[in-house]
Amino acid sequence: MAQHVRGVIARAKGEPVELTTIVVPDPGPGEAVVDIQACGVCHTDLHYREGGINDDFPFLLGHEAAGVVESVGEGVTEVAPGDYVILNWRAVCGQCRACKRGRPQYCFDTHNAKQKMTLLDGTELSPALGIGAFADKTLVAAGQCTKVDPAASPAAAGLLGCGVMAGIGAAINTGNVGRGDSVAVIGCGGVGDAAVAGARLAGARRIIAVDIDDRKLEKARSVGATHTVNSREADPVEAIRELTDGFGADVVIEAVGRPETYRQAFYARDLAGTVVLVGVPTPEMNIELPLLDVFGRGGALKSSWYGDCLPSRDFPMLIDLYLQGRLDLDAFVTETVGLDDVEEAFARMHRGDVLRSVVVL
Ligand code: APR
Ligand code: ZN
Ligand code: ZN
Repeated sequence: MAQHVRGVIARAKGEPVELTTIVVPDPGPGEAVVDIQACGVCHTDLHYREGGINDDFPFLLGHEAAGVVESVGEGVTEVAPGDYVILNWRAVCGQCRACKRGRPQYCFDTHNAKQKMTLLDGTELSPALGIGAFADKTLVAAGQCTKVDPAASPAAAGLLGCGVMAGIGAAINTGNVGRGDSVAVIGCGGVGDAAVAGARLAGARRIIAVDIDDRKLEKARSVGATHTVNSREADPVEAIRELTDGFGADVVIEAVGRPETYRQAFYARDLAGTVVLVGVPTPEMNIELPLLDVFGRGGALKSSWYGDCLPSRDFPMLIDLYLQGRLDLDAFVTETVGLDDVEEAFARMHRGDVLRSVVVL
């Protein structure tokens, strides 16, 4: 029996979101219905509402979520009803060239649920990032669910489903930060701060946080930054060099997504160091670098997609570290709000007042 539940939708470009009734079908083969317990408010949800991702309105928003599997369809073996899970964007196929080469993050054939959730009049909904979790319940592919320890609070756990995983993964997976490394993080929003926390987890010796907002720098300290640089007041490249005995950082993580900060990251790394781009640029952004500097400085220029995470490996591991007190995911939850507060949470996020507002159900 299809169920009627509450969901937050973006009906048309630029219009405020609406809390309305949605229809969630029973899970078909390979699908699961998840009872959502918490879902973080992310910039990407706002981009959907603004038509910046695609035009497939109406969207069912929300995608950084944790909940309990309510029911599963035919042939599902990954999870069972009652499992506490974190949702990820897409289930991977396990069969394609990327999966076979051990890079499932780049799977060519990822999938979401085949059936559609709808409005009461039958209009099909497009779930944000294939999830749609600003809702009491949502329908996903079973492979989008990763079982984790139920002792973890849903508000904290859900954040691993997107922004916080992107940041931690940029440090521990893409940047491969090692014990004793010097790490610089440029841009300390939710993603950058998660990179700071990831660098701490990996045993970095120095973690230099760079931002243009002193409030952000203070917060970065609380999640593990050992030094901070306000790049409105000081040249960040010079400052990072000074703080690393004149060498530059072993790993520099760019978490803004702009040409000028990418350039800073490029020159702030040590010879043979690594630059990780996790900030998402827009299509018109370009950067010119002297090829001789690329050659002469050596090292690696990498981008990090979803923290190069493998949900089945990384979600349970990070949740265990959280439960052991070694990773403070609660620090990323600025406030918890209700389903009817998503529009106001967008405004607070836009003003830079919060790391994450989390809808708790
Ligand atoms: N130099 C340093 N910091 C900057 C600069 C700059 N020129 N411009 C902006 N910032 C800081 C902001 O002050 C803010 O603290 O970058 C931070 C960006 O944080 P958020 O807007 O909260 O964004 P966040 O969710 O952390 O995502 C950052 O990563 O995954 C991507 O799409 C995401 O591109 C975005 C980036
Ligand atoms: Zn694949
Ligand atoms: Zn997100």
